[in-house]
Amino acid sequence: MALFEAVHPVAASILQEHGFRVDSLKHSPSAQELAELAKTSTLIGVRSKTKISAQLLSGSTALAAVGCFCIGTDQVDASAAALGIPIFNAPFSNTRSVAEMTLAEIICLSRALFQKSSQLHVGRWDKSSKNSREVRGRTLGIIGYGHIGSQLSVLAESLGMRVVFFDTARKLALGNAHSLANMDAVLAASDFVSLHVPDMASTRNLIGAAQLQNMKLGAMLVNNSRGKVVDLVALASALKSGHVGGAAVDVFPEEPAENGDGFSTPLAGLSNVILTPHIGGSTEEAQEAIAIDVAEKLARFWTQGCTATSVNFPAVDLPNVRSGQVRILHVHQNVPGVLSKMHTLLANAGVNINAEHLQSDQNTSYVILDVDAFQDANIMNALRTLPETIRMRVAG
Ligand code: NAI
Repeated sequence: MALFEAVHPVAASILQEHGFRVDSLKHSPSAQELAELAKTSTLIGVRSKTKISAQLLSGSTALAAVGCFCIGTDQVDASAAALGIPIFNAPFSNTRSVAEMTLAEIICLSRALFQKSSQLHVGRWDKSSKNSREVRGRTLGIIGYGHIGSQLSVLAESLGMRVVFFDTARKLALGNAHSLANMDAVLAASDFVSLHVPDMASTRNLIGAAQLQNMKLGAMLVNNSRGKVVDLVALASALKSGHVGGAAVDVFPEEPAENGDGFSTPLAGLSNVILTPHIGGSTEEAQEAIAIDVAEKLARFWTQGCTATSVNFPAVDLPNVRSGQVRILHVHQNVPGVLSKMHTLLANAGVNINAEHLQSDQNTSYVILDVDAFQDANIMNALRTLPETIRMRVAG
């Protein structure tokens, strides 16, 4: 198998333990290099730069799965599912890093640390306690109480902050946090508001001029979620008027594709605003956690056929293959009669089925069959050549 873009080395170690020969490459390959490697690779691991095209997927008969060692998966062409190739990613491995950075920013904003530091860098000594406050006893409002929001809640309470939150889904409040009835109630109650919602049609411009006006005078806003959640022109205006006392923003509606590309934002140059280049989840620990998560998902798929955590595939999971059994993994078109053909083929060959699990999406079905061990290679050929078969293999 091949890993690209300097995936953390722990991924290679995990996959080697499962018997893979791993080519670990630091760069993102050219289309030609990738096509050559895909001819012989059963698994491919990429980060966000390497594009896996429809042509590459359809041309590679060896390829069984793709691991995206990051959050997003849109670098892999959407045809993967129809070709029977699951995609795995690590959506939550960097959530602690975001929660920690958010807490750090809340303290920095509350003490105006960036302004004080910037001034000292240019030779201005400004020792004063004016507008510099502890966070202990102050109220943090969290919008979106998922993986990141709930971790932030626990960390903030450990500093003595009061936590209130709003989530569109019913969420168990951790510690002494309080769930409020709606977002406006959180905005009105909080000294700091931190956003941790996904990017969806319903969260675009979730925070605009009206919501900023609902915040307490001088309260501060942190957005480490997604760039389109906040109307930055409205935020700049609220900061200039002093209604919002400070902001930390890590994500932007338009972000440069490469380091060094130009960037501008309506928030540039404003006082008590921390701007960071989408680094909330970018830590060494997160890279390692991502590598472990995706490598283990790929290994489980290879050895057991488990697709439960795939982003594009019917979710099928069975316990480990029992000794003396063979596990057949069969991806086929979701049309009537395929299972019955498979059952008949196996029954006619005298092969007993001991466990079976099927899941389908609109076009594709995936079935795992645990059957008694058999020697007859014709059985596999017969299953493979069913007209509805998309891809099949024996696990492990
Ligand atoms: P999650 O899916 O675990 O939690 C999101 C929560 O928001 C869910 O509980 C959902 O019910 C809630 N929600 C959805 N719409 C809402 C609304 N209108 N009002 C209130 N709650 C709403 O996601 P997770 O892992 O906590 O990530 C949160 C955000 O952080 C995502 O947008 C993610 O892309 C972003 N992120 C940013 C990173 C960075 O580097 N800055 C790194 C990792 C994640």
